Amino acid sequence: MTEQWSPEHLVRLAIEARERAYAPYSGYMVGAALLGESGRIYTGCNVENAAYPLCTCAEHTAIVKAISEGERNFLAIAVATENGGAPCGACRQIMREFSEELIVLIADVEGNYRETTIARLLPDSFSARDLAQGDVDYGSGCAESGHEDLP
Ligand code: THU
Repeated sequence: MTEQWSPEHLVRLAIEARERAYAPYSGYMVGAALLGESGRIYTGCNVENAAYPLCTCAEHTAIVKAISEGERNFLAIAVATENGGAPCGACRQIMREFSEELIVLIADVEGNYRETTIARLLPDSFSARDLAQGDVDYGSGCAESGHEDLP
């Protein structure tokens, strides 16, 4: 199902998700659309809070939605902002948690986009593999979920 997917469609869904942003403090609305290997697409928007540090980014919203729905493998994410701004560092790290090869489409509201990858956005990244080099006991969470092959 995901052999053929349309970057333009993913960008379009991210632009639509951006319309649902709750960003009364910054005024900077962001939308995301995350394509899972199953073919399902999970959208997200930024959700701000009067207590500023509690703001949630759009990419974070989409990824948390997907994980909580049981999907852990992803092919691509589109991120839409007014001006085609790039994903923040924290979101890059959150993307990297689940994929080393994620395609990232960075779009503006007009639908113009550029294509890159998480590997390019976050080179020499820190990941679960670094922890695995030590004597870390992950407990049962990883193995039970069939997630032994760390991304
Ligand atoms: N924001 C995102 O949603 N994603 C990013 O990658 C960058 C920043 C949001 C957070 C905050 O609500 C607003 O944009 C301004 O920083």
